[in-house]
Amino acid sequence: MAILVTGGAGYIGSHAALRLLRDGHRVVILDNLFRGHAEAVEAVRAAAAKEGRGLEQNLRFVRGSIDDEALVTATLRDNAVDTVMHFAALAYVGESVHQPLAYYGVNTAGGTALLRAIARAGEHGAGVQRFVFSSTCATYGEPGPGEVPIKETLKQNPINPYGASKLFFERVLADFSAAQNAAGKAFSVAMLRYFNVAGCDRSGLLGEQHDPETHLIPVILQALLGVRADGKNMLTVFGTDYPTLDGSCIRDYVHVDDLVDAHVRAIAALKPGEIRRYNVGIGRGHSVKEVIAAAEKVTGMKVPVTFGPRRAGDPATLFADSTAIRTELGWSPRYTNLEDTIATAWAWFKANPHGYAKR
Ligand SMILES: NC(=O)c1ccc[n+]([C@@H]2O[C@H](COP(=O)([O-])OP(=O)(O)OC[C@H]3O[C@@H](n4cnc5c(N)ncnc54)[C@H](O)[C@@H]3O)[C@@H](O)[C@H]2O)c1
Repeated sequence: MAILVTGGAGYIGSHAALRLLRDGHRVVILDNLFRGHAEAVEAVRAAAAKEGRGLEQNLRFVRGSIDDEALVTATLRDNAVDTVMHFAALAYVGESVHQPLAYYGVNTAGGTALLRAIARAGEHGAGVQRFVFSSTCATYGEPGPGEVPIKETLKQNPINPYGASKLFFERVLADFSAAQNAAGKAFSVAMLRYFNVAGCDRSGLLGEQHDPETHLIPVILQALLGVRADGKNMLTVFGTDYPTLDGSCIRDYVHVDDLVDAHVRAIAALKPGEIRRYNVGIGRGHSVKEVIAAAEKVTGMKVPVTFGPRRAGDPATLFADSTAIRTELGWSPRYTNLEDTIATAWAWFKANPHGYAKR
């Protein structure tokens, strides 16, 4: 296949690009580098080259935005793209509350522009037939009593602009797919609602770098390495009085390689015109305190921690019911032990304490 990977210079997109190259596909990364890294694209190229099969020749990088319709249309046509994996987004819950227009602009309107380019590129040929969208458990909002583990059928009721911007694009995508199919252009869609993504590729070349970094495992590892951007090198645990076993929040940590495997299985399974929606998580939660303990075991170091009040909008417990993706796609995460997941991240953070740019 010829696959456009939007946001491929970011954390998850770069891992996806590498897996797709390893599987023998042609890959075009489209990223404006707003939050991604040219070095991540080079790392994908280097890791592909390491396989010794010339796979790196199947990688192209186009620097540009998903809402540049002329550029995206030309990119799709020139590379005869038949499949799109759409990772590009703004993805901070807190930031979305303060900058909602930026979130609706990129995540909803930007995605819509991408679909317009797909429609244009397909006017005189087969065009794009499969689309996988990085959605999120944030589209569900705060589950009520008895609603965790979260099933795909749970009513989506986001409580912040980030979750809403992703949910709106899910709807745009479903309507676009229906219209394309009605016009005789089979366009199938997988909406994958990720839980908390963690870990790094086994090559040790690809990493996780968000600026600012707010994800729990990278924050812990950066604090241990003494490289937190704020100079404090301290993990703050937000809330210790949640109704959980140890009072800290519980989340579902899925390894990035397993998450990417879900994408690969989705594109293989999609039948022309259909839409599938799956939660992607391991189906088990770990509390913040459990994550800290696991990181201490992996690194042999003591995590510097302070305890603070709850953050507004943080549900106590979120984890996936992953029955649907397991039974329908045969997906089964290889990383079910949190320590194994953290160990893959630790390998990269230790080798790249200041991230890609400052190696
Ligand atoms: N990391 C997680 O735990 C998690 C959880 C749920 C969902 N997601 C979703 O997964 C996707 C990838 O997340 P990530 O953690 O890899 O984030 P990331 O910030 O590392 O990657 C996003 C990439 O998109 C690019 N981008 C942003 N705006 C763009 C635009 N207008 N045009 C082209 N490129 C643009 C950025 O430069 C960046 O490289 C996002 O859609 C996010 O919402 C992530």
